[in-house]
Amino acid sequence: MTRALRLVVPLVALSVAWPNVASAAGGVRPLPASGFTERAGSVSVSGGRLVLRGRAAAGTAMSGTSFEAVSVRVRFAGRRCRGARAMAVVNGRARVLQPRRGSWRTYRLASAPSLRRRTFALRLRAGHRCRLLVRRPVLHLVAGRTFAPPAPRPSPAPVHTIELGAAIAWRNVSAIPGYADLFLRHFSHMTPENELKMNALQPRRDTFDFVEADRMVDWAVAGGKQVRGHTLVFKHQTPGWLTNPSLTDQLTGEGDLDRDKLLSIMRKHITTVMRHYAGRIREWDVVNEPLRPDGSYNPGIWLDTIGPEYVEEAFRSARAAVPDARLCLNEIGAEVPNRLADALFGLVERLKAQGLIDCVGFQMHVNAATPPALDALQSNLQRFATLGVDLHVTEMDVNVSQLPGGTAEKFAVQARIFGDAATACSRVPACTRFTTWGTTDASTWLGPEAQPLPFDDALAPKPAWAALQRGLAGG
Ligand code: G3I
Repeated sequence: MTRALRLVVPLVALSVAWPNVASAAGGVRPLPASGFTERAGSVSVSGGRLVLRGRAAAGTAMSGTSFEAVSVRVRFAGRRCRGARAMAVVNGRARVLQPRRGSWRTYRLASAPSLRRRTFALRLRAGHRCRLLVRRPVLHLVAGRTFAPPAPRPSPAPVHTIELGAAIAWRNVSAIPGYADLFLRHFSHMTPENELKMNALQPRRDTFDFVEADRMVDWAVAGGKQVRGHTLVFKHQTPGWLTNPSLTDQLTGEGDLDRDKLLSIMRKHITTVMRHYAGRIREWDVVNEPLRPDGSYNPGIWLDTIGPEYVEEAFRSARAAVPDARLCLNEIGAEVPNRLADALFGLVERLKAQGLIDCVGFQMHVNAATPPALDALQSNLQRFATLGVDLHVTEMDVNVSQLPGGTAEKFAVQARIFGDAATACSRVPACTRFTTWGTTDASTWLGPEAQPLPFDDALAPKPAWAALQRGLAGG
């Protein structure tokens, strides 16, 4: 079948085309008959280099089949071959051959999947003192497996810029050693946890107290941080004079707090606070948590007294107060497709149609025992992105107290959850901010047993911190 071809190949490369010869051993099968021609036998090389190349004959439509390996049958010839060595290199992967003198020996030079090409190069070197005989290299295929030509790896889409933020409690800046530095070193955005809420800024009707919040905001701004104004209108943390009817009567002396009075109070609060911080706080949670899990409006003084239109009225007042401020609606529990997310989508759509909203906050308070799926987070973000608003993760923490297992296991689960949320954000260009609700387990609204944050109670990074970074970089 093959002519003995004895070539002494000094130092030239010999390109040999040979057929689809594949041994049937090892679960391999011959190439389809077409395409390969053989014109080779055994060649010998001494003191030089022999390059054998296999290639599909011109015009062969490669079905994507690749070679799993190349086998060569070699033997040394000559009296001075004791201890001779040969080197076989297939597509850059080297293998030392040490054939027995006088007898043929087959070497299988596995080199899959690097042989995903129409050709391969087999380079053989032999010592000067000995001739190496090579009998037709055999191409091995992997039975039943055809390699689709490697899909061009999509270059990872450059991850858009995602600012990293954290909620900060002003009292901790002086009370917890290292707390301030941890924030200043790792985060670019601050959300005051409670210091900008209505009960803090307007403790008495028409009496505004900005002292503590000013210190906090000025500290952050001096540190080069952006500040999110959280929050102007919220059913919780409203001042006592507003929600305690008897107290209200005493203060207002005007009987029940009716719709018009409360609208006036709301508008005055929004306008006074936003204008006080104009230039220092450029983004506000105008309304926090207006909806319930079933998609209905969240009862409380604002809804009960004004009606659902309080949301639109609040945004209208905010837009009028500081026209270039960015106005956000912040919600809890709308992070994945559900009835609340549907209701939120409709509300944001209506506000956007009136030019009243710029951003939506998804709080992302997660119970590690029932975490959201990455694809659900991503699809929800992608849906809201169609509204043309910026999307922010605003309050992420992952409560591990209900997880089984030890600390290491819990923190590993927590890391994956943080990583998934960050990856989802990185895949949606409209998601431009990722904020955790605190930095360290030493101070969390959930209590120490929740251990919900990326840094532990000694302010050391947990696995969640690295996972968060990876996720924000594209996962
Ligand atoms: O400042 C008083 C202090 O004087 C008093 O001694 C102490 C004991 O009652 O209470 C202190 O106020 C507490 C306040 O946090 C400041 O620490 C309130 O009782 C307490 O209810 C309040 O909890 C805050 C909670 O919102 C109230 O709704 C949490 O710290 C805060 O993390 C949490 O944040 C909310 C976001 O604003 C909106 N999204 C949900 C998130 C978690 O609930």
